[in-house]
Amino acid sequence: MSEMVIFGGNRLCGEVKVSGAKNAALPILFATILIPKDRVLLKNVPEIRDVQLSFSILRELGISVKKKQNLYEISTDLACFRPPSPSMVGEMRASTYLMGAMLGRFGRVELPMPGGCDFGTRPIDLHLLAFEKLGARCEREDDRITVSAERLRGSTIVFPIVSVGATVNAVLAAIAAEGETVIVNAARETHVSDLCRFLRACGAEISGIGTSVLRVCGGKKLHGCGYRIIDDVIEMATYLSAAFVTRGEIKVKGQFDPSMESIVQPLYEMGALIREEDDGVTLSAGGKRFGTEIRTAPSPGFPTDLHPLYTVLLCLTENGGSVEENIWQERFRYAVQLQKMGASLRRVGTKIYAAPSTLYGGNVVAVDLRAGAALIIAGLASCGKTVIHNTELIERGYESITDKLCALGADIEKRQ
Ligand code: UD1
Repeated sequence: MSEMVIFGGNRLCGEVKVSGAKNAALPILFATILIPKDRVLLKNVPEIRDVQLSFSILRELGISVKKKQNLYEISTDLACFRPPSPSMVGEMRASTYLMGAMLGRFGRVELPMPGGCDFGTRPIDLHLLAFEKLGARCEREDDRITVSAERLRGSTIVFPIVSVGATVNAVLAAIAAEGETVIVNAARETHVSDLCRFLRACGAEISGIGTSVLRVCGGKKLHGCGYRIIDDVIEMATYLSAAFVTRGEIKVKGQFDPSMESIVQPLYEMGALIREEDDGVTLSAGGKRFGTEIRTAPSPGFPTDLHPLYTVLLCLTENGGSVEENIWQERFRYAVQLQKMGASLRRVGTKIYAAPSTLYGGNVVAVDLRAGAALIIAGLASCGKTVIHNTELIERGYESITDKLCALGADIEKRQ
């Protein structure tokens, strides 16, 4: 198990460049399975554990992945059907995307239940609903799922609630279906749009990108392409949070999309000074910090991924505030860890109330990726030494986070 040791209290200043978005990269990597015999050149692929794991899964299917300077070359010439190994699939939630991609390419997929961050039940009924609508058979036995179809046929899929994963899988399978598929109540997250734009660059016909109704005209033969993955707004918000809690000034460089608005709005409300420019966003937090009320919601709402981090920010305001979690009812396991560092938190149903707190160093455990990022933010704001255990989970989603924070003036040491 790896650890991070943080000596808090330093004011962080300077510039940091964000990496490619994890949540866009993973579906795009699995989508390459749909491309018969060609080459994809991907730019801005984040160097994180989940990406490396995805490459290993692709290689098991005979797909070659090579790094050439700042590009990844993915060649699907020798792709063939093989059941993916349970150990790899079990480690990563995004392996659910194998369902849509393998069903589309090979007409069949057999998977153990996918793993990933643990914040309560993570159902896949909507993924299966989409496949069945397209004419597939889904069988669930113990912890395994088999989805198969001789032919997929376009259809109308109406999701009762917004699901990023089910929308991605519906798009992937619809690409291989004959005729038009209409996906109603589709997720509008920018990473879903990025996947659709990638597929369009490969020859797919998709319209309604960025809206809640996606139309996929299936059956087009896909080809390779060159594509740059969007920058990571969650990573951007993580560095802005670091500036906020240390009363520093950080410019986060990257190309950000409209989803950024829901992320910076609470920061404005908390009293941060924010400057949005063409090449990035600068936050400085010198003056008073005010509490606010935040509600997580599907895009264009405030992203659930930032809930644990913004709870830390609220603890450092003059009057505290609250976060209401509307996506993952059990995404509160981080709170116990923050309490060990002096955070005054109280959970009532789906809401967590953060009272003004003085944070101090502690011995804590990263229980999931974003919970771990929240502990880093808390450690930077604390007086004294914080030791975070289980930091492999943080490396699943953040490229070189220790180096990037140290370059901004943080005192962090990584231990394997
Ligand atoms: C969700 C978040 C995404 C975040 C990720 C990791 C949303 C809409 N999605 O994506 O932003 O990056 O977690 O934190 O904010 N659900 C079902 N049946 C299904 C699938 C999902 O009931 O088959 C429910 C889930 O229990 C959850 C909601 O739908 O309450 C959203 O889940 P979904 O978007 O599918 O999860 P992820 O794709 O992991």
